[in-house]
Amino acid sequence: TTIHLTDYRQPDYLIDETHLTFELFEDHALVHSRLAMRANAAGEGGALPPLVLHGQDLVLQSVALDEQALTADAWQVDDSSLTLQPQAREFELAITTRIEPQNNTALEGLYKSGGMFCTQCEAEGFRKITYYLDRPDVMSRFTTTVMAERGSYPVLLSNGNLIASGEHEGGRHWATWEDPFPKPAYLFALVAGDLYRIDDSFTTMSGREVELRIYVEPENREQCGHAMDSLKRSMRWDEEVYGREYDLDIFMIVAVNDFNMGAMENKGLNIFNSSCVLAHPDTATDMAFQRVEAVVAHEYFHNWSGNRVTCRDWFQLSLKEGFTVFRDAEFSADMNSRTVKRIEDVTFLRANQFAEDAGPMAHPVRPDSYMEISNFYTLTIYEKGAEVVRMLHTLLGAEGFRKGTDLYFERHDGQAVTCDDFIAALEDANEADFTQFKRWYSQAGTPVLQVDGRYDAASSTFQLLCRQSCPATPGQTEKLPFVIPLRLALLDGEGREMPLQLAGETQARGTETVLAVTEAEQLFVFENVREEPLPSLLRGFSAPVKLVYPYSRDDRVFLAMHDPDGFNRWEAAQSLAVDVLQGLIGIHQAGRPLLLDQRLLEVHRAVLKDDSLDPAMVAEILRLPSEAYLVELAEEADVEAIHHVRDWVRRELATALAETMWSRFRQLGDGAGAYRADAESMARRSLRNTLLGYLMLTESSEALSVCVQQFVEAGNMTDRQAALVALVNSPHEQQKHAALEEFAQRWNAYPLVMDQWFSIQAASPLPGGLERVQGLMKHPAFTLRNPNKVRALIGAFANQNLANFHRADGAGYRFVADQIIELNRLNPQIASRMLTPLTRWRKFDEPRQLLMKAELARILASDDLSPDVYEVVSKSLA
Ligand code: ARG
Ligand code: ZN
Repeated sequence: TTIHLTDYRQPDYLIDETHLTFELFEDHALVHSRLAMRANAAGEGGALPPLVLHGQDLVLQSVALDEQALTADAWQVDDSSLTLQPQAREFELAITTRIEPQNNTALEGLYKSGGMFCTQCEAEGFRKITYYLDRPDVMSRFTTTVMAERGSYPVLLSNGNLIASGEHEGGRHWATWEDPFPKPAYLFALVAGDLYRIDDSFTTMSGREVELRIYVEPENREQCGHAMDSLKRSMRWDEEVYGREYDLDIFMIVAVNDFNMGAMENKGLNIFNSSCVLAHPDTATDMAFQRVEAVVAHEYFHNWSGNRVTCRDWFQLSLKEGFTVFRDAEFSADMNSRTVKRIEDVTFLRANQFAEDAGPMAHPVRPDSYMEISNFYTLTIYEKGAEVVRMLHTLLGAEGFRKGTDLYFERHDGQAVTCDDFIAALEDANEADFTQFKRWYSQAGTPVLQVDGRYDAASSTFQLLCRQSCPATPGQTEKLPFVIPLRLALLDGEGREMPLQLAGETQARGTETVLAVTEAEQLFVFENVREEPLPSLLRGFSAPVKLVYPYSRDDRVFLAMHDPDGFNRWEAAQSLAVDVLQGLIGIHQAGRPLLLDQRLLEVHRAVLKDDSLDPAMVAEILRLPSEAYLVELAEEADVEAIHHVRDWVRRELATALAETMWSRFRQLGDGAGAYRADAESMARRSLRNTLLGYLMLTESSEALSVCVQQFVEAGNMTDRQAALVALVNSPHEQQKHAALEEFAQRWNAYPLVMDQWFSIQAASPLPGGLERVQGLMKHPAFTLRNPNKVRALIGAFANQNLANFHRADGAGYRFVADQIIELNRLNPQIASRMLTPLTRWRKFDEPRQLLMKAELARILASDDLSPDVYEVVSKSLA
């Protein structure tokens, strides 16, 4: 069944207080709930509507209304609800349910991960724990008692503050937690396990002392320092940048191994995928360190953007997710290189979210309808949602934006609200009008912004003609113009920014400005432009659009060398590379010999020799556009040509620039010396390892021996892993197998390191990839029950191994479909995620389209399809 935004109705009943008692056992759990309820406002005295509670996979044991036990004829139960008839406007409802956490492989609700009990309730997991009004606009004060055997579960946690604890006979014990802040059920959490605790504290801006705790399995105790530091920095940052202070006396993070996503912002008790908490230089790469920092910040920031102010319904999901991703991105930008962070985010958005926007699951930032809300935790809701908030920030300026968020938090503290409420607060605080801007929330698809420039020497004017359009998406054929903030500068022949004076304006605009493009077609005229400029457009990717401007390759070279804006320098080099690659793909398809445009080579050479550039920036420029991005850009993606040409260009660059690369590589040091996790050291490693990857393509024996040596002697996982990747993708069978073997032996006790080992092999484009992945499925460290393993092996194969996944005989598709059918039974959310690459069938040639659709049809016809999988498969075949 499909749920529509327009069908929203207030709840008939509210829950003021929720008292929960969990009795946890090895083969079941009993959940006793006592709810203080009342009818929601509306017609006093009128007949009371039936009370319909959500519930799924529950065994109902008893129901009592105002302490009177009900008999089974007083209620109706089906597989998704419990209905009964209240007799008074206010009443107490007591329910006992029986569940089996140990058999919960969907990892939603209360489940076991290894030896511990934990929960994941967002979005609709609480209904798998007990019958409840499981919707975010029903907010309640929770008191939770957890009872379990003391030996195996010495640590018992829930939201809020510990208010009592004690012993039972027979080795059992209990703890009671009370959360003073009303919250929806999706923010409920419970943990019981044998966990090691890392303690720290934070003094808030008003001088309150907050206890900070990270709980992990004892063997991971040495890997929590980075998460704790990141947490403290996040708490400080939110005070300084948003004026937001933490509100409880205790803040806890728990790491679990089996988790469907990254992490969850449960009030005062965040539960994390261990991959987003644990980080030690020996076992985690720099990328993992940055991910931990970002996710810790993200979940912490939700305490205000999500928990204190939450969503009225799940259509508003981006209200908290888009805003919070924007907040964590700005935090990371402040902690590290702002430009590099932006480059990473834009690269990710364009390769992945743009593809979503162009595919069968395309939806607006605020969707109109869904079948299964779990399917809408998407790149559009999160990443595009964050871009929408970023545009608001750009349009209002930092100060105006802050005034708006202050008003938003003040006005809506303790409420469940909508994206309209968020916009209204920004408008009211700034006397702004975002009526048209709100189309970003309701229209799906990636707009195309086509710009043309015309210089007129006689009048010293430069005209910018902007035209916008947006392709049709499922259910939306016609689109109205968006508000597109276009950040730009005009560069003179030396690459300097020229003063900007817009016709009709008295005030000059400095040398960089933001134009608001609001019409389908709009002309901007700059005056007193003394020479023909080259525009530097959409700086910092000021809007999530596809920019088209008739730059020549020479223009792009010029911008790549001279644009004072770092982001646009990268963008120019990137778009030059895209242009070169696309040209070569055409030549390859025509069967003509490939010849590299020397201008790309010269840009790379110049960048390599430029010591003034941040080495991380250099690495970003050297990294060619990904295969996924080239697929996204193509009308019909020729898998073989894309892979072949990109690989060929990489080899050409490596061969031609080998000398320059070697000298830069050596100049960056040997990777020995103490490991440091600061931005500068990470930047150095990033460039050095990018160069190692190139140098290995020259197939010189020197590169091989440097690589093997780095693999053996590396003092940290970043360098070791980079060497392993280069070896795995090389033709040196003996060294490759020795390295893989040694790595697995040394790290087999570290699941997160083994995930890396799986995904490096799964992503290797060398022939025989499918057979290697099938072999790895039988490895003792692999299991379909752990989402990280599924992502590492099957996810990496289907998303990052274009050549093998798209094998012409369809065996790659068949393999992935087989796994999805299996996962559908175990864990529907993960099964649904693995479908994405198959849903993109429209991008490929006809034989592949037929093969992909056949696999989707086979999945659709399989038994017991979950709503998660059904929604994605049926929409992608429609
Ligand atoms: N709110 C969590 C976060 O972004 C993610 C929850 C995802 N839930 C889901 N069913 N996929 O931090
Ligand atoms: Zn979030």
